[in-house]
Amino acid sequence: MIKYNKTKYLILGINLLFLGLFSFEGITQNIGFEKQIDEKIDSIISLLTLEEKIAMCHAQSKFSTPGVDRLGIPEIWMSDGPHGVRGEINWDDWGYANWTNDSITAFPALTCLAATFNPKLSKEYGINLGEEARYRKKDVLLGPGVNMYRTPLNGRNFEYMGEDPFLTSKMVGPYIQGVQQNGVAACVKHYALNNQELWRGHINVEISDRALYEIYLPAFKAAVKEGKVWSIMGAYNQLRGQHTTHNELLMNTILKKDWAFDGVVISDWGSTHNTKEAALFGLDMEMGTGTDGLTTSTKNTYDYYYLANPFIEMLKKGEVGVEVLNDKVRRILRLMFRTNMSENRPFGRMNNQEHIDVARKIAGEGIVLLKNEDSFFPIDPNKKMTIAVIGENATKSMTVGGGSSELKAKNEIAPLQGLQARFKNATIVHAMGYASGPSAYGKVLSSTLNLEKLKNEALEVASKADVVLFFGGLNKNHLQDCEGGDRQEFGLPFGQNELLNDLLKVNKNLGVILVSGNAVEMPWINSVKGLIQMWYLGSEAGNAIADVASGDVNPSGKLPFTFPKKLSDNAAHSFGKLSYPGDSINQYYKEDILVGYRWHDTKKIQPLFAFGEGKSYTTFKLSDFKTDKKQYVQNETIVISGDVLNTGKFNGSEVVQIYVGKPKSKVKRALKELKGFQKVEVFKGSSNFVKISINTNNLSFYDESISNWNLEKGDYLIYVGNASNNISKEIKITIN
Ligand code: BGC
Repeated sequence: MIKYNKTKYLILGINLLFLGLFSFEGITQNIGFEKQIDEKIDSIISLLTLEEKIAMCHAQSKFSTPGVDRLGIPEIWMSDGPHGVRGEINWDDWGYANWTNDSITAFPALTCLAATFNPKLSKEYGINLGEEARYRKKDVLLGPGVNMYRTPLNGRNFEYMGEDPFLTSKMVGPYIQGVQQNGVAACVKHYALNNQELWRGHINVEISDRALYEIYLPAFKAAVKEGKVWSIMGAYNQLRGQHTTHNELLMNTILKKDWAFDGVVISDWGSTHNTKEAALFGLDMEMGTGTDGLTTSTKNTYDYYYLANPFIEMLKKGEVGVEVLNDKVRRILRLMFRTNMSENRPFGRMNNQEHIDVARKIAGEGIVLLKNEDSFFPIDPNKKMTIAVIGENATKSMTVGGGSSELKAKNEIAPLQGLQARFKNATIVHAMGYASGPSAYGKVLSSTLNLEKLKNEALEVASKADVVLFFGGLNKNHLQDCEGGDRQEFGLPFGQNELLNDLLKVNKNLGVILVSGNAVEMPWINSVKGLIQMWYLGSEAGNAIADVASGDVNPSGKLPFTFPKKLSDNAAHSFGKLSYPGDSINQYYKEDILVGYRWHDTKKIQPLFAFGEGKSYTTFKLSDFKTDKKQYVQNETIVISGDVLNTGKFNGSEVVQIYVGKPKSKVKRALKELKGFQKVEVFKGSSNFVKISINTNNLSFYDESISNWNLEKGDYLIYVGNASNNISKEIKITIN
């Protein structure tokens, strides 16, 4: 260890001044900023002791890493993510610190954001969330999550953006850029293949290269290449026998070499398992290892992290070169120059009206109308009538629970409250109907309420109403939409199916509003008049659903994942237990590239609701769509254009979706894959011209025989539609 005397300290101080580390002259605007920063970083590294460098590579508390106080290098503070800034957690255990200044705006869950099919809203989401993170003095926001929706049982699907790599890739970049323009690093997670919660800490995923590159990696690549994300979180699970957090292929080869990622790889909390692998296979910062603070924490517990004392030992013995450590520190310092050592970052703000408005707008645009018989929705807010609002989800807080994405919302408008505020002329009567029990992390607690009584109250109320709105679905309790476990049934829990059947016997004028982040089975679907997929909408949930139910907002959300009719229709499940959930040691992604609608389309299995599906109160017609040419070569832009006509009675927005397929191919292909989309607002009675470009290179498949992308020559079919199951035009093109 290097020992410093007073003179040396003085020199260090002068050095730092010379480096301009603390000068506030707006260097970030200079050309060559990155180069300048890299030079500064090298100088700082030369001043750091081995111990100081090591300390920077691992946690000092649940959500922070230490700075170097003698040099004025600050600590790094992190927070979950991804739907708002989480309440403050204790220094060394998972308890909440009970601060009184950490209540925030809760934004809609990422499934809702994805359902907007609107990358501009993703940017707004990021900007506003980033402002809150900045105001809360966070340097890293642990989100967004972009794991793929493989099974409707995954407890964390609500934190992700659905089943399609193209949609997710288009949505992730703007979110990241929005967050990061506040001088707060986004941390895209969980890299990679953390697609189920069951056995997440050890399950080993066996998957083909093709599925890996075509389905599970594109969103992470987009986060790096287009979002220019400053940090990424390793996942809990293993890939091909090695933990993903220190996985040679994922971290060294793909992320750092092929994608040239220059940011920080942060472990998930407790996902580090081995010093040598952590040192050599790409992990830069270790968080959350074995310190639940309640049981195993000792005084200097953080010294026992894999990247702490054991790492020093390896370095001292020469088993790992100091360059390995320096690379980690370099990345960490780079992140700091982008965040807490950047003198240009704004100050942020929190709970301001604009944030609340943005949360409401995104929620309104993400809500998906799936069934609307006899124009059940919108419900006229000026009419005098009795509305029975049935269901626990009409009043239950959905920002509480769910695991690490749990939020302490300053204000959360529940659906019942939102409806009461908007439907002033109506008599609104609420009955719970069913009860789920309190939310407790890792535990299922049953309700102590009298369920028979709840049901009878609901039937009584419903029988006398003009309209019944059933707010059901899942919630954020353990084994529902919640981290740390998967759902155990595809059907609705807590006796909701039986309740719905009984309600329908007393009143047929009934619409269902599903609050969930996952698909559910719907045996009652033919008997209900309306169905809305409402997601978890955060602070403004109640206002947003009232906006749509009343017609103030015309729904324009589209499903970012398929709703199968039954669980065995889902690709992963159709291959049995070894495919999902695995045998507790290994699992095999047997459906390969045929995930979600790719499976349903190719195997001709009708879904209950399809990817990209979603209705409006108005009607649209896609007209005159064509390509600019018929023949293309590689790396050329295909321009697809046409008109969207609003043929109905309301203004509204439609999402034009372009899928591409290759009917004759030397490899297995999905019937079609999303390759372009655009959301467009069209006033009633008018039309809007839409132009969507696709680069022919994006039609390549990952060719395992050459370990690279390969653009096959020949005929392709372009499908134009407004849902994966509603294609209005097919156009044949050829790539030469
Ligand atoms: C989750 C991460 C989260 C971290 C910190 C982990 O259990 O998987 O998504 O960011 O905890 O709370």
